[in-house]
Amino acid sequence: MKRVAVLLLVFGMNLAHAEAGRLKAPNNPKWKEECGSCHIPYPPQLLSADNWRSLMGGLDKHFGTNATLDANDSKKILAFLEQNAGSGERYSAASLRISDTPWFKHEHHVINNKEWVNPQVKSRSNCSACHGKVLLGE
Ligand code: HEC
Ligand code: HEC
Repeated sequence: MKRVAVLLLVFGMNLAHAEAGRLKAPNNPKWKEECGSCHIPYPPQLLSADNWRSLMGGLDKHFGTNATLDANDSKKILAFLEQNAGSGERYSAASLRISDTPWFKHEHHVINNKEWVNPQVKSRSNCSACHGKVLLGE
């Protein structure tokens, strides 16, 4: 399986084979709607509760955009993220990016720099370029 995913990238195809369902989070329509409008709703288990708290505390300066929410929605979404957060250093990054966590680097060590900047991918944060919708078990 690993080999297949890597070969697909080498031949310029953009579908990796992440295990479907592994990242399934409990359904939360509010979170999906609000945190899935600009990018995929990033799975809560991929970042620590501490990181989610910092991220939700700074939505007005969210990676160069303003993603401010209604205070009540924000509170509910944070509670959901905290409940489903990953635990330990593996899921922590000072940048508050999943794509900078030790877990992410480990899972993606087979990908070389050329593949990250492929025009179909552009950014490590663009999970769906390689994983499609498989990530969330959809
Ligand atoms: C107005 C658009 C917008 C909304 C709404 C939004 N984001 Fe983002 N988010 C961004 C942008 C832009 C980036 C940076 C993407 C990049 O670097 O390619 C980002 C990046 C992120 C990252 C880091 C991705 C990585 O590299 O690992 C996380 C985590 C994240 N957002 C979580 C959330 C959460 C949680 C919500 C809902 C509360 C949310 N976002 C709502 C625009 C948005
Ligand atoms: C350039 C393409 C690419 C991008 C972008 C990318 N991934 Fe991956 N990802 C892969 C490949 C290829 C593998 C498999 C690596 C291997 O087989 O060793 C992988 C592995 C994974 C796995 C482990 C799969 C398993 O077997 O459980 C997860 C989970 C994952 N990625 C999540 C993400 C998330 C979340 C993002 C965005 C923040 C992301 N990926 C961005 C290509 C990508």
